[in-house]
Amino acid sequence: MKKFGKRLIGMTLASVMTFGLATGCTSGGNGNNGSNDAGGNTQTATEDKGASGDIQVGIVLPTKDEPRWLQDQKQFETILGDAGFTNQVLFSQGSSATEKTNVETLISKGIDVLIICAQDGAAASAAVEEAKEAGVTVIAYDRLITGTDAVDYYVTFDSFAVGEAQGQYLIDNAPAGSGIPLYLYAGASTDNNAFIFFEGAWSVLQPKVADGTFTIANSSEAEALKDSADLSREQVGKIIGQVTTDWDFNVAKSKAEANLTAVGADMKGDVLVLAPNDGTARSIADVFASDKDVTSYVVTGQDSEKASVQYIIDGKQSMTVFKDTRTLAADSVAMAVDILGGKTPATDTTYNNEKIDVPAKQTSIVVVTQDNVMQALIESGYYDASEFTGLQ
Ligand code: BGC
Repeated sequence: MKKFGKRLIGMTLASVMTFGLATGCTSGGNGNNGSNDAGGNTQTATEDKGASGDIQVGIVLPTKDEPRWLQDQKQFETILGDAGFTNQVLFSQGSSATEKTNVETLISKGIDVLIICAQDGAAASAAVEEAKEAGVTVIAYDRLITGTDAVDYYVTFDSFAVGEAQGQYLIDNAPAGSGIPLYLYAGASTDNNAFIFFEGAWSVLQPKVADGTFTIANSSEAEALKDSADLSREQVGKIIGQVTTDWDFNVAKSKAEANLTAVGADMKGDVLVLAPNDGTARSIADVFASDKDVTSYVVTGQDSEKASVQYIIDGKQSMTVFKDTRTLAADSVAMAVDILGGKTPATDTTYNNEKIDVPAKQTSIVVVTQDNVMQALIESGYYDASEFTGLQ
């Protein structure tokens, strides 16, 4: 199975602390001493380099409205603050125009490194080209920026493995028999990751659809392609066009409602649901739970958002994929440390962004269910047990 834009080339990278110590980066960071500006953005300044408040590392994240990105914000502020860097985190709030303004704001504050998670992977090219022209090194964070050579590095989770784990979970937890209804949902088509997640899931689900074990309930495009193990990007795009949630809880809810209204009784009973992430999984799960003709559902997710961890403990969501934002933020900061110290950051793979092969650092993922929630998320120190009820 072809992985979109991805080619493996080997492996190695030390931890961020090693890099931070080795380069002896700037002085006196004392952790997260951030303050909120008028726009609700957070600035952590460990060293004030001038009246305009020079910033070394600028971070742009897609939205505050999804808990996923607040996890990343927290990690950046802690790690960059501890490493002694002046930094600022700005949110694009779902708008590519705001994202571009945010990048321009950070350029005007003198950043040397931009870490950016694009709202729209193609639209963000204009913003990063501006940054490059200003001499800034650009690190695409979690989402690849496409169609431009103005991306220096990419730091990401193994997104193909995320989709694969979701699909495999559905297979491993499917009821016995054949013709089991399978509902497919995907992320936003403006996000390259949505393609990779779907492709990962398709790589394991497709044989089960082709041999009649599962029946796709809500996508004529996917149904028409059920015998194709390898899909082109255009074909995946067609499926996503039908089953996208736009990464939006409300879109996910209304799409699930419309799907359940449209199908007959044969597509209810015990069902499987590929939900692309936790926010959409909770919305979709609520819709399936309230349909009297759905006897049971297995539903996937990703991000280990607190609300979904509680849903898993309560038996309302089946699994999530833990993407440890501590590692991703640390990897990005390690890169920034190298760049600011004049060194070339270590990478272990490349992703093609339709223009160039972007050197990338990729990190692995962990499947979380009721069985290992304690070990994966509490004992690892990611969350505190007191944040949940009913934990065993
Ligand atoms: C991220 C996911 C996130 C989704 C919606 C994706 O690009 O990889 O972790 O749930 O965007 O924000």
